[in-house]
Amino acid sequence: MKYSALKGVHDIYPPDIFDWQKVESLAKNVFSVYGFQELRAPIIESTDVFIRSIGETTDIVEKEMYTFTDKGGRRITLRPEGTAPVVRCYVENHLYKLPAPQKFFYYGPMFRHERPQAGRFRQFHQIGAEAFGVDEPKIDAEIFSMLRIFFQRLGLKGLKFEVNSIGCEKCRPDHRSALLNFFSGRIDGLCPDCKRRYHHNPLRILDCKVPACISLREGAPHVTDFLCGECREHFDTFLSCIKMLDIPYVINPNMVRGLDYYTRTTFEVTCEHLGAQNAVAAGGRYDRLVKDFGGPPTPAIGFAIGMERVTSLMKASGTGSIPAPPVFIAAIGKRAEEEGLVIADRLRQKGVWVELGYSVNSLKSQMRRADRLSAGHVIIIGEDEIRSGRIKWKRLSDSAQGEMTFIEAEEFFGENG
Ligand code: HAM
Repeated sequence: MKYSALKGVHDIYPPDIFDWQKVESLAKNVFSVYGFQELRAPIIESTDVFIRSIGETTDIVEKEMYTFTDKGGRRITLRPEGTAPVVRCYVENHLYKLPAPQKFFYYGPMFRHERPQAGRFRQFHQIGAEAFGVDEPKIDAEIFSMLRIFFQRLGLKGLKFEVNSIGCEKCRPDHRSALLNFFSGRIDGLCPDCKRRYHHNPLRILDCKVPACISLREGAPHVTDFLCGECREHFDTFLSCIKMLDIPYVINPNMVRGLDYYTRTTFEVTCEHLGAQNAVAAGGRYDRLVKDFGGPPTPAIGFAIGMERVTSLMKASGTGSIPAPPVFIAAIGKRAEEEGLVIADRLRQKGVWVELGYSVNSLKSQMRRADRLSAGHVIIIGEDEIRSGRIKWKRLSDSAQGEMTFIEAEEFFGENG
């Protein structure tokens, strides 16, 4: 019987895993400079957590959730995104009682039953960040700058930073009426889902992927033309802050995020090299969600980065790197192998990465392996070296070579490995 991974999910193993580790440690590094701390929420939640937050009429809730009934008859969903679980955790554990802002980041797998294609998977991974308790647009700019610095330090080029504001409950009714008006003569051409959305949530028509709906929505009214005074001021201040920080951005008034919880600022980082699935990170404000989950009114903002898309950009631009052992010990003969094992162990105790050759293989093939691993130095031990008490060493980058005693080798490579 042969087994294979399910459609739309992937194994991640060397050398690809090195890019993943690089992204994860860089994110931790950059996010901690902004005061974000790690939060680990479960992968499964009550289905209601997602319906309530993402919204009943969104694609994710309507079509894409992995939902099942457990043995206790509970409706459970594999998380399709990370914000709702973090908000559930924040409210359940009364984290709002701590001084604001509370700032968290998380990594992990998310699950959406979408049609797999380039850059779109059923199990994918996000690194997300969420900040609670600050209303001022200054924090929107800080979050945006954190994303910019993350991508800059990763060395990725050709990214576009798109921003929009989708207003609040006060601005929405007028925009909704304008949308209803706009689509009223076009209902017959809309897909069955959008026909329903027309009545329940016409904003979602702007997010539909069906080609007929995409062409019918051309010229639809922008929410930015309906912003109330406070939302307008919030957006303008956010824009002036990111200008001050020299972050190149474009306003995309057509950006409607695929989740219902957003209010005011929304943003996406896109890259044209990614094809149809071009968003490498996305996020925005969700000022009502904590209250909707039973907490006190608490403004919040965050984003998530798509790991598969970031690592594919790294691969294409050659910004990834494969770690190499500083020391490789090639041994020929039983005694030499034993000595090599002891030296390797002592160096490893000092924290040096050492790879061992095995004398079933010729010296030539051990050297080939050291070369393939891009080892820094090779230590060579054979019968002659055992007799003389001096090892031979070779630096692979420039073929420099020499000899030293076993003790000297332990000291030298322990410090320089
Ligand atoms: P999202 O736009 O649904 O937002 O996803 C964020 C990012 O996750 C996308 O820009 C993309 O890079 C990646 N992504 C989404 N779906 C897939 C998929 N099927 N395959 C591969 N990558 C994917 C959210 O999830 C929000 N929770 C972001 C957020 C955090 N907003 C506020 N805080």
